[in-house]
Amino acid sequence: MLPEHKLKAFLDLLKSSGREELAWMNGYLAGLLASGQEQQAPVPVQPVSQSALPKITIAYGTETGNSKKLAIDFATQAKKNGINAKLVSLDQYRVNDLSKEEYFFTVISTQGEGEPPAAAKKFYDHIHQNGFKLEHLKYGVLALGDTSYPLFCKAGEDVDSQLQKLGGKRIVSLQKCDTDFQTEANGWFSQVLQNLHVNSNGNGAVITAPVTAKKSTGKKTYTGTILSHVNLNDRGSEKQTYHIEVAVDGEPDYQPGDSIGIIPKNHKVLVESILALAGIDGEKSLTWRNENISIKNLLTHKLNIAYLPERVVSKYAAIVKQEIPETKIGLAELLRIYPVKDAVQLDEVIGILEPITPRLYSVSSSPAAHTGEMHITVARDTFCINKEQKFGLCSDYLAQLPENSVFEFYVNRNNQFRLPAPGKDIIMIGPGTGIAPFRSFLAERDATSAKGRNWLFFGEQHFISDFLYQTEIQNWGPEI
Ligand SMILES: Cc1cc2nc3c(=O)[nH]c(=O)nc-3n(C[C@H](O)[C@H](O)[C@H](O)COP(=O)(O)O)c2cc1C
Repeated sequence: MLPEHKLKAFLDLLKSSGREELAWMNGYLAGLLASGQEQQAPVPVQPVSQSALPKITIAYGTETGNSKKLAIDFATQAKKNGINAKLVSLDQYRVNDLSKEEYFFTVISTQGEGEPPAAAKKFYDHIHQNGFKLEHLKYGVLALGDTSYPLFCKAGEDVDSQLQKLGGKRIVSLQKCDTDFQTEANGWFSQVLQNLHVNSNGNGAVITAPVTAKKSTGKKTYTGTILSHVNLNDRGSEKQTYHIEVAVDGEPDYQPGDSIGIIPKNHKVLVESILALAGIDGEKSLTWRNENISIKNLLTHKLNIAYLPERVVSKYAAIVKQEIPETKIGLAELLRIYPVKDAVQLDEVIGILEPITPRLYSVSSSPAAHTGEMHITVARDTFCINKEQKFGLCSDYLAQLPENSVFEFYVNRNNQFRLPAPGKDIIMIGPGTGIAPFRSFLAERDATSAKGRNWLFFGEQHFISDFLYQTEIQNWGPEI
């Protein structure tokens, strides 16, 4: 409620305002509240007539739905501000329309190793071709990513710089967002809306200075302690699938459908062999990304040394001045076959290594059924290189973590993958470890007495040895 003097001023303002002005105020307040920046003095925006407001296109490129969700939020806010906003997925976008756009905003995530999502590939390739200009285009890019990846928000960065190279005018700085993207995204929406209003009032607000991406706040990490660690496959199976129960410090904030991100540790034996091959003292300290850290800890916890991406192998080849064939190879093998000459080369090699990327595992527990715990279902990844058996880094790390060990993780939300309303029937198809999120769905429905019916289709190699969660599933339903 407003105090009397403010209420009077407010009512006077309303009485003296026309319909269009009221619509503008409504949109302005909605944008301000949604941005969470109401405590900061708002920059006054001059009301403009509806017809003067620009038409904008908001195009999103997404893999798991985060960019789509933000693009929808942005379009909603723009419409509330009286802006004619067209929303489109980049895979549906007609690339030839780009030259006709006046205002074009992209919300795009990064996937793979710094690549655009599959749905944005056509658009991404198109703007990377030469031979055309976008001189009338005014644009802005909101980039989604995860700071745990070496090429943080690379696809968004590329789109932002490429549109500028083609002659586009950036009207808002590139905003890079980590997995906790909402606050940064809201701030960026407000900034765009402000700029659109400013532009409509005839004051150009084109940003020509180099991109100064604001730093993201980072994601919340949890510490988990392994309570139970069981191989779900029976004797005779060709697989190892671990059910891992984790006690979490503080109530974990997640929903069925979410996954957890884990940064695995490199194996002690591998780290020791690299230190021996390189002839370095593991206790020696160095500075890595502003952190003072021993080489041993750096190799154990931070750097990817197990299988190096091609781009790192070719940088290694350039340092040691050797031809190295394209193959799946780790740092230890490289050092053994193509040794470094001296300490200078070794420093250079450490400089080209990339951080360990997180691995995502679907959560197989339910917050309603397993209070204070989170469960995951992990298949140990096994493969052969030159007839030698090898294991995937993270699944091997998790497969070997004894009970009571402690590790860190974060929650990766997936708002596109949620249980429907409790009364709705669901059909779930989850072979192998694909059962994980559906165990979570079923446990949640069971614990909350949801009335909808549930069908689960599950398959694995052998009924006898590979029927994951057999007893639990049979207890839920009579039919097999
Ligand atoms: C397989 C995979 C690879 C990823 N690679 C990167 C990457 O190279 N750089 C980055 O910043 N984020 C990377 N991410 C994180 C995503 O960009 C991030 O989760 C984003 O919020 C996803 O948005 P979307 O749902 O719109 O696709 C990756 C995520 C996955 C699942």
